[in-house]
Amino acid sequence: MCGIVGFTGSQPASPILLEGLKKLEYRGYDSAGIAVLDGDKINMAKTRGVIKNLCEKTHDGALLPGNAGIGHTRWATHGAPNDVNAHPHMSNDGKFAIVHNGIIENYAELKEELVAKGYKFKSETDTEVIAHLLDMYYTGDLKFAVMKTVSRLVGSFALGVLCACEHGKLFVVREKSPLILGIGVGENFFASDVTALIAHTKNVIYLEDGELAEITPDSVTVFDGAGREINKEISRVVWDIEAAEKGGYDHFMLKEIMEQPRAIKATVEPRIKNGRITFEDGGVTPEFFSGIDKIIITACGSAYYAGCVGRYVIEELCRIPVSVELASELRYRNPLVNGNTLLIVLSQSGETADTKEALRECKRLGARSIAVVNVVGSSIAKLADHTIYTWAGPEIAVATTKGYTTQVAVLDMLAVYLADIMGLITPERYSQLLTGITQLPSLAQRSIDLNTHLEYIAKRYSSCNPLFFMGRNIDYAVALEGALKLKEISYIYSETYAAGELKHGTIALIEDGTLVITLCCYEPLYEKTLSNVEEVKARGARVLAVVHEGNSKIFPLADDAIYVPKTDALLAAACEVVPLQLFAYYVAKDRGCDIDKPKNLAKSVTVE
Ligand code: M6R
Repeated sequence: MCGIVGFTGSQPASPILLEGLKKLEYRGYDSAGIAVLDGDKINMAKTRGVIKNLCEKTHDGALLPGNAGIGHTRWATHGAPNDVNAHPHMSNDGKFAIVHNGIIENYAELKEELVAKGYKFKSETDTEVIAHLLDMYYTGDLKFAVMKTVSRLVGSFALGVLCACEHGKLFVVREKSPLILGIGVGENFFASDVTALIAHTKNVIYLEDGELAEITPDSVTVFDGAGREINKEISRVVWDIEAAEKGGYDHFMLKEIMEQPRAIKATVEPRIKNGRITFEDGGVTPEFFSGIDKIIITACGSAYYAGCVGRYVIEELCRIPVSVELASELRYRNPLVNGNTLLIVLSQSGETADTKEALRECKRLGARSIAVVNVVGSSIAKLADHTIYTWAGPEIAVATTKGYTTQVAVLDMLAVYLADIMGLITPERYSQLLTGITQLPSLAQRSIDLNTHLEYIAKRYSSCNPLFFMGRNIDYAVALEGALKLKEISYIYSETYAAGELKHGTIALIEDGTLVITLCCYEPLYEKTLSNVEEVKARGARVLAVVHEGNSKIFPLADDAIYVPKTDALLAAACEVVPLQLFAYYVAKDRGCDIDKPKNLAKSVTVE
């Protein structure tokens, strides 16, 4: 969703802001803008549409000289995506320019108050009240004005403030929306995520909710909500700029699909020590699980589907009830949790609003929590009792791929770890599964290598709309993710059904030529799935089967096949999903879709 950047130093600010905004494009946006302080005047440029338009409008920043500025990509919530509603927003006298991520819930009453005081509003946004409040409270002390303004706001905000009277100084505030400070030499930065900073510095400070910071070229001073200066740890980002670039691939999505063997390896390998699984890096010890009598996995979107895989694996190995809950539902359901409930929260970004609030609610009710998160220092990572990071590196494409597979890998490991401490697994089975987990990176690579023909298969089926997926057990869980991939990047209506459920209604939709993608890798139920394939085939369906490599018996029942390497049945998901990601990618490519930035979608959904 919205992205913010800020810079102060001795270089021209505009090109740095524009570059930073480009790096945030992946989050999803519909308009963009920058404001730069030149002498005593703030100049601003903003426009609907892509950053390229803003670059053209400002001659790549040359029309906005100055060494301190702020920038924003907007994903519209209040008011249409147009030039006026785009950020930054300014106070009437041009003294303040601000950029804001989040939502000001009480903006209507603040607006009424400000209008009564004579302030003129230009936009329909909730954000503009902030610029006028700053103007109202500013008497020469920026920190005071910012704190006073913030005390009036209800909602979520990451805020960047530029003031015409405060040369070279920026102010930022964080409340329920990510904000990171970048520490340079003679220059400093802020941004809503590390990708916008990494070209300039790897030294960052993660702000916490309620904190604010004053940023000048030579100093970064952080304050708590009461305005007291506090010491913050400077963290070092572990990945390089190349990780956030396409590296020769046409799309980030394809690059990230190809990165999965490495990402799974980075997630799994450090957690196997002396032939045992350990989560000590996340502070997780066997004692943490003592007395747990049920597990709830919660997440949104693909992370939720990773959770669906996790349920099958954990229940099978640990014989403990596991439910998978959509975070947007769980948070409002007065959930049945207590101190014996383990909540596992999955989130690539660590900032998904519903997931974060579901975690908060379950914590309030006493649940013990583990977050499986990719973005270091993110809100969910900080909120959970323990965090297990998926070391997938930055994921830029809106459609998650390596985020999902690394979550699945962690869940596989957690299942085996738990089964072991619960005494439910023999040493032989433990070492069998551990070997299987260790092989996941090379098997994911094999999944990629086996499917070089997918581009051609995808072309053959790219006009099938709607289409259906089916499978049983883990195949079913993986199919859910396969269908979501197609929906979000190719805009094809694709729906998943548990194969046994089809004849209870949905089979009525099957007609001559309907494509049914059938996952047939879960061997314990292979024959059952085949009988469902017969059923749809008898009604004229075209069948694209996902089978283990070497399975030629699937013909002539299937029209085409996608192959995956054989794994332990419980560990299949991380490899089985790979060709489905590739299929969605090539279908979307054939249909000419904007693969990395699908319409209406944002990478990180930080509002409800
Ligand atoms: O960052 P998160 O994992 O919390 O995001 C959850 C979903 O928004 C995300 O998985 C979404 O469904 C993706 N676009 C799927 O590709």
